[in-house]
Amino acid sequence: TNHITLDPGYGNTGSCESGITFIDGDKGILRYRGIPIEEFADSPSFIEVAMLLINGTLPTAEEYASFSADLTRFANIDEGMKYHFQGFPRAAPPMAILSAMINALSCFYPELHELEDEQQFRQASARLISKVRTIAAYAYRHSKGLPYMYPHPAMRYVPNFLHMMFSQPYEQYVCPEIVSKALNLILILHADHEQNCSTSTVRMVGSSGANLFASCAAGVCALWGPLHGGANVEVLNMLEQIHQGNITPEEYVKLAKDKDSKVRLMGFGHRVYKNFDPRAQMLQKIAQELVPVLNRNDPLLDIARRLEEIALSDPYFVDRKLYPNVDFYSGIILRAMGIPTNMFTVIFAIGRLPGWIAHWWEQHQAPGSRIARPRQIYTGTTNAHYLPMEERN
Ligand code: CMC
Repeated sequence: TNHITLDPGYGNTGSCESGITFIDGDKGILRYRGIPIEEFADSPSFIEVAMLLINGTLPTAEEYASFSADLTRFANIDEGMKYHFQGFPRAAPPMAILSAMINALSCFYPELHELEDEQQFRQASARLISKVRTIAAYAYRHSKGLPYMYPHPAMRYVPNFLHMMFSQPYEQYVCPEIVSKALNLILILHADHEQNCSTSTVRMVGSSGANLFASCAAGVCALWGPLHGGANVEVLNMLEQIHQGNITPEEYVKLAKDKDSKVRLMGFGHRVYKNFDPRAQMLQKIAQELVPVLNRNDPLLDIARRLEEIALSDPYFVDRKLYPNVDFYSGIILRAMGIPTNMFTVIFAIGRLPGWIAHWWEQHQAPGSRIARPRQIYTGTTNAHYLPMEERN
């Protein structure tokens, strides 16, 4: 194994060639299929961006209408799947339910296990993108003991999700325009980020020939972790903890610098962005516009600003090039919108799904792609023998 180069966390290892997303971490550039994310700030819908990532080009009006019709057609889940939800304890983390249900979904569409052509793949991705939103909302309804709300055929992607989350059988949730606009942008900004942990997981699982649904279910599990998508929940927990007076922002930052404490400043730092995270900059702007409108004087926003101020002038963070990342602001915005904290990472997953799908397909089609099978440097003992149990001590 002498020829093997160790690269913990694959910080310097390219695992594939990809034409989906370009990142320049030093300059803070993020582009989907060549288009800078800043250009998505005002107009397009999340579904348009999903189609761009998956298909490679922006959809024509006709393509968009046809994909939207598929999303409407596929929005419901098999009634039998509701029994799966009931088996989970009410307190089950919605990420666990989401992953299990995406995997279960594959059992209902066995014909999609072997995707033969592009048409079949498009159908499978429309099913997944549409149903993931229903599953996510039902996971929340289950946790609250509330009846499941069916998807509404006349609603667009984001308002339909919020309807399934918040409507009651006797009262329709009315989605403020500003809320659907902000959630739409959050989903767009999470839609792809090249070889991050969950996307690499989807590729790795897919490389064995596993189907699209199973591969994306694995992506959800990877995203769940607090160092990845779970960070948006941890940011809120951190802000709450400070707000409740257990600790001041100054003390928290001090703790985060102390390696023995195992505490990190959540929502800070990134493997690739070393000067700023362009997604965080866009979200910071929205947070400033939106939070005062939706929820005047959220003290957590002030704490977030204070933490940012302290960290950005502290040599520990400056020297290590640690800046606020996408998770630092997304949690604050979602909270202002009334989204419960345990759904934050689920919303990240809904956003990242088109990226996972695009990468799964790119790999599926790449000539010469082969099973992912990293090597290791063995550090265990090399010379041991089997001892019968009575001779061991
Ligand atoms: N607070 C305190 N110290 C930190 C932090 C932080 N948030 N992030 C990195 N460091 C320190 C780390 O201790 C190390 O110090 P030293 O060189 O003295 O050992 C140095 O900075 C480099 O850190 P690293 O762990 O080698 O960096 P990485 O590229 O492996 O990890 C990261 C990147 C994002 C996992 C990490 O910065 C982190 O844990 N941040 C907090 C969690 C978080 O916000 N995650 C969301 C990431 S963005 C969206 C997503 O992927 O979901």
